[in-house]
Amino acid sequence: MHLLEQNYRDKKVFLSGHTGFKGTWLSLWLQWLGAKVMGYSLDPPSMPNMFETMNVAPKLAHIRGDVRDFNKLSEAAARFEPDIVFHLAAQPLVRLSYKNPRLTYDVNVMGTVNTLEMVRNTPSVRAAVIVTSDKCYENREWVWGYREDEPMGGRDPYSSSKGCCELVTSAFLRSFFPPEEYGRTHNVAIASARAGNVIGGGDWGGDRLVPDCIRALTRDEEIVLRSPDSVRPWQHVLDPLGGYLALGSLLLTDGPRFAGAWNFGPSENGAWSVKEVVSEVIRLWGKGGYRVESTGNAHEAHLLKLDCSKAGKYLGWRPRYDVKTALAMTVEWYRRFYSDEGKATLRDFTVDQIAAHVR
Ligand SMILES: NC(=O)c1ccc[n+]([C@@H]2O[C@H](COP(=O)([O-])OP(=O)(O)OC[C@H]3O[C@@H](n4cnc5c(N)ncnc54)[C@H](O)[C@@H]3O)[C@@H](O)[C@H]2O)c1
Repeated sequence: MHLLEQNYRDKKVFLSGHTGFKGTWLSLWLQWLGAKVMGYSLDPPSMPNMFETMNVAPKLAHIRGDVRDFNKLSEAAARFEPDIVFHLAAQPLVRLSYKNPRLTYDVNVMGTVNTLEMVRNTPSVRAAVIVTSDKCYENREWVWGYREDEPMGGRDPYSSSKGCCELVTSAFLRSFFPPEEYGRTHNVAIASARAGNVIGGGDWGGDRLVPDCIRALTRDEEIVLRSPDSVRPWQHVLDPLGGYLALGSLLLTDGPRFAGAWNFGPSENGAWSVKEVVSEVIRLWGKGGYRVESTGNAHEAHLLKLDCSKAGKYLGWRPRYDVKTALAMTVEWYRRFYSDEGKATLRDFTVDQIAAHVR
């Protein structure tokens, strides 16, 4: 039996953000591994969305709740008695964070505080993975990849809120779950996971490059680019999710050895410019075009790479797909979604993508 299956089969997993893009993929993967999942989130963030498309709800305990509602969050977890918590719920959009910084900090930072406090108060929990972002780092726009122990920062409210989530996680780790006290004063191993821009089928989030491309292409409109030369790390959603699962599994079996922060970025050649990504999407789709518009005042980082040596060495984790493969898998997913024939078997196709990633 595969190690992940061995470690997740019949485990109780509490997952916040399960109605979102990454959360739905993670729910499907956990179900495929035989885990029992409780999802705790607000409604799916878009229409259409991955959560309803995959019809995940009937196969998990679905709680519609806000991570800012500490009592409801704690009661749900107390009832479910999870072994492990994955915290993905967030306000994840940079541009929305400029429009609504209070909401962004409230959901992202207090949502993380509430989740960690819930972990502290729920005796069944033995591990937690807090999902933040590569944007948590103070971006110095240099050519080297960021390592886990480099300073937190973030110039825009979203990025800085994710830096704050990291600081909160680190404070809880050191104050309440110190690895050296594991097995004596507590039995919880907590970690944070930092990944870059992910792509994959089922994302219709606003202000995200591939969803923006697909929206325009399906309407026969031009794709509008704001920062064509921005270079970002791109990876298929299954790559970081595989990292979160490997990390969670080792936190469960080996406890404190794996506590702390982890990067899950693409390989060196995974950094492509926005223009390159869009050109490849258009090529795969078979038609379409783009035009460039000014960004206005919003600052966008130009280069941000992660150094993932730690995850490679200690978790045996490596990104499986290069950008070209990730884009081909993604465009094929949307092609099926937008065809009646393909849509009927889309869930099977999605689960096949998960199975192929594991093999
Ligand atoms: N998608 C990416 O490229 C990317 C990159 C780096 C990090 N991340 C992080 O990964 C996580 C998931 O991102 P995603 O792309 O799936 O986002 P998404 O917008 O698709 O999903 C967000 C999820 O959070 C839930 N949510 C939002 N506010 C909530 C609240 N107040 N209470 C409870 N639930 C709430 C939504 O209902 C949804 O389930 C986030 O933490 C995000 O910051 C995403």
